[in-house]
Amino acid sequence: MKKALLLLLVFCTGFQFISAQKTVYSVFSPSRNIQFRIGINKGGTPYYKVTFMGANMVDWSRLGLVTKEQNLQTGFKLIGVKPESHDETWKTVWGEVDRIRDHYNGMVYSLKNENGKKLNIHVRVYDDGVGFRYEFPDADGMPTLTVLDEITEYQMTGDHTAWWIPGDYDSNEHVYSTTKVSRIDAAWYNREHAIATQHIIDYKLVQTPITMKTEKGYHITLAEAGLTDFSALHLRVDTAALRFSASLIPSADPNVKSINQLPFNTPWRAILLSKDAAGILKSRLILNLNEPCKLQGDLSWIKPQKYVGVWWEMHVGLATWDLEASQDMMAATGRKSATHHGANTENVKRYIDFASKYGFDGVLVEGWNVGWKDWFGKWKDEVFDFAKPYPDFDIDVLSKYAQEKGVRIIAHHETSAAVPSYERQMQTAYDFMHKYGQNSVKTGYVGKIIPRGEWHDGQWMVKHYVRVAEATAKNKIMLDAHEPVRPSGLQRTFPNWLACEAARGQEFNAWSTGNPPEHECILPFTRILGGPMDYTPGIFETRMSAYDKSKKEIVHTTVAKQLALYVTLYSPLQMAADLPENYEKRLDVFQFIRDVPVDWDDTKIINASVGDYITTARRQKGTNNWFLGSITDENARNFTIKLDFLKAGRTYSAKIYEDGKDAHWEKNPYPVAIRKIMVKKGDVLNLKLAAGGGCAISMIAL
Ligand code: NOJ
Ligand code: CA
Repeated sequence: MKKALLLLLVFCTGFQFISAQKTVYSVFSPSRNIQFRIGINKGGTPYYKVTFMGANMVDWSRLGLVTKEQNLQTGFKLIGVKPESHDETWKTVWGEVDRIRDHYNGMVYSLKNENGKKLNIHVRVYDDGVGFRYEFPDADGMPTLTVLDEITEYQMTGDHTAWWIPGDYDSNEHVYSTTKVSRIDAAWYNREHAIATQHIIDYKLVQTPITMKTEKGYHITLAEAGLTDFSALHLRVDTAALRFSASLIPSADPNVKSINQLPFNTPWRAILLSKDAAGILKSRLILNLNEPCKLQGDLSWIKPQKYVGVWWEMHVGLATWDLEASQDMMAATGRKSATHHGANTENVKRYIDFASKYGFDGVLVEGWNVGWKDWFGKWKDEVFDFAKPYPDFDIDVLSKYAQEKGVRIIAHHETSAAVPSYERQMQTAYDFMHKYGQNSVKTGYVGKIIPRGEWHDGQWMVKHYVRVAEATAKNKIMLDAHEPVRPSGLQRTFPNWLACEAARGQEFNAWSTGNPPEHECILPFTRILGGPMDYTPGIFETRMSAYDKSKKEIVHTTVAKQLALYVTLYSPLQMAADLPENYEKRLDVFQFIRDVPVDWDDTKIINASVGDYITTARRQKGTNNWFLGSITDENARNFTIKLDFLKAGRTYSAKIYEDGKDAHWEKNPYPVAIRKIMVKKGDVLNLKLAAGGGCAISMIAL
């Protein structure tokens, strides 16, 4: 009791009258760089405000929910304030760093409405940002909450530069726009047709995480954490008032956003704050706000991994997923020949040989099971059978072959968004995987969701993705989900969930206008803040005309940048996405992809500017070896990098893979110059990045 009182004095400034309407409590972060203030106005509506290093970052903004059952916007009375503070360091199962400090001051701000319904606003203030969420501590008199809207507002204090993608109920696979907040308008996105299923109905909606830069150079990211049983958080922008407000994805009933059983808490609303862009990449706020690992016992079955796969050949049009394409399918995809089935036994053996020879852990095989004939654009239930291989995919032979070669086949479960069908088959499918020695699965949700009317990012689907994470964990299977809701840090809770797509991946370079050179310089500041992405880097043949002369599509980077992405785009699951024959032509360059690890003890952000460039150095798990990746957008850049992160007294053998002479993402993507030098702590490297280029360095401690 005494302790609680003391904490109250330390962390809360107590009653102050900021304005006539507001009675305000405040919490400072441990180093006092961030102040969070909360109060209720005369009408009983809760408001909050956030300052960072003395600057007003979120001005007084409303809090609350609109529900069918109760008024949870006005008429609140404060019934208690419980301060709290926490300082603990936890160990990651895998990650960018080995240990993470979870250090915050916080409070539970307890309110009661006119009907006596209790609502807690739980606040945590870290040195790298703020998290708050709504908690309903008891079910008394109201066991179910039907959320019609969330009120949470974010009042910006300037017309910041924002990096955003449009609010879309079904897809996150958009190119980013960079505009002032006052200029956000997503109208043009409805003219893009490369995304299989998209649903953009409000041009003032954006997705989270969204990152902004203030005039002073401060950075602010609005995100969410711990999304397990709610619909995903979009934001509606009022371009005149420079204010964002929560906008939840509806359910099949357009008025209902979420239905929850009480007691219940919403996901965390996270606000990342930093004086520069690098600070946003260093933030561990989203992970810290998530629940600790729920998986019990020995977790050594969870392994970060590198893989190759029967995959890119389908995307570049050399092979098909289906054994025999239907006429409809051919018309829909513009495909001319009925089949050249990629997942045939001989071809898969070729990939297993390649993986084994060059030290890859897994071989993803897409198109191995029946159902592909009729999967696309039909909105049809019962499409795929996840325990029935095509007749030319000899699973007995291939499983044995893979085992002999020390490689695992990665299963592919494309559900075509027929979700109940997948849920019915899940256990059978995982038993089938075990029978054949498989312990990783890539899922996919291309198409409109069944049950009809639900959306990819709505509550019903959010719960499904979590059910799959739980079911795969129970079956000791690692998970990579494509087309799910964008992640919110749940990899801390379910570390078997290695990666997600949930953004515009490399595949768009194969068959659309592609990903502009700045794309990979934005992803880490937005989508990847929520969790690792299966981006599938490593394309060496960047021009699709190599496969079909009439094709104009290209990868919008140099080859050296493709290497650097293994370091700058963090993921414990990384594909070497190109065809084996393209790697075998350039084994010297391929060596970096073979060497680069996928699990790290430490990470340093050397320099960063959103949408412009990122240089990251990481220390390989359990070693003193460092790997560095540096990438740029469409502008060529020179960097001087001081190797002050290396261990003193050690010599490192460094191999530098940089853009070769006259390299340019569009005009001359191929040249990579490789040089070997010895380096030590404090040495300085001059890196020259071509337009759309990059540099990758391995530094092995001798
Ligand atoms: C889209 C996924 O992102 C891609 O990786 C996959 O190959 C296709 N769907 C087919 O499932
Ligand atoms: Ca996709």
